[in-house]
Amino acid sequence: LGQRLIHKASVTSTQLIAHQEAQAGAEHGTVIIADEQTKGRGRLNRSWHSYKGEGIWMSIILRPTFEPHRSPQITLLAATVLAEVFKTYVGIKPQIKWPNDLLTNGKKLAGILTELQAEEDRVNYIVLGMGINVNQPSSSFPEDIQRKASSLKIETGESLELTGLIKEILQTFEKRYNEFNEEGFRPIKLRWEAFGYRLGEMVPIQTYQKEWNGRIMGIEDDGALRVLDDKGQEQKLYSAEIQWGK
Ligand code: BTN
Repeated sequence: LGQRLIHKASVTSTQLIAHQEAQAGAEHGTVIIADEQTKGRGRLNRSWHSYKGEGIWMSIILRPTFEPHRSPQITLLAATVLAEVFKTYVGIKPQIKWPNDLLTNGKKLAGILTELQAEEDRVNYIVLGMGINVNQPSSSFPEDIQRKASSLKIETGESLELTGLIKEILQTFEKRYNEFNEEGFRPIKLRWEAFGYRLGEMVPIQTYQKEWNGRIMGIEDDGALRVLDDKGQEQKLYSAEIQWGK
């Protein structure tokens, strides 16, 4: 993984470049990194602020041999990799907000965007995007997101050298990806749950216009969130808009 690393100064989005590279036949493990993205994108069509040199903006091309329905597990795997690296290498204990936001003190440090290209029952490739806020001072973030976003520097008070952090992430990712192929999802699931945000707590949940309160129990093997409703029934949520705020 990362044997082939394509580093660009400025791109619209590393996701876009990765799709182009993958369609042109780039091999499994190709990594695209940019110093700056002018059109960084997040989940749910949101934009992602990616200023020059202040964070890690990267996309990894994966060519897995598993079936398409397992691809949400890759997103959860990536979240645990970042959590693990933040804890051991950076020295802060983050939480993973389902499905894949990395938080500390309730503020977002990193996000993951997984895009799947499948043909019938086969995964052609996956583009796994990670955006990590590393060296931003809080003034770098637009005012409306200052209270929602943070960076590793804001949390630790120290600047981090990006190359070392990238290497650590890629090495840990490779280790966990191999473990996933050999042992399946279980070790990842346990690790994910060790970092789970508001695990065991009651939270307001909104699904199909209906609002209810549920207790967050953990995740399923297919990546769904397990929530206990007020009748004691366990529900599996896939894309519920969870009102994570207080
Ligand atoms: C999210 O939390 O909504 C996901 C954010 C993903 C951002 C990364 S930065 C590298 C890659 N390129 C993009 O345009 N997006 C992802």
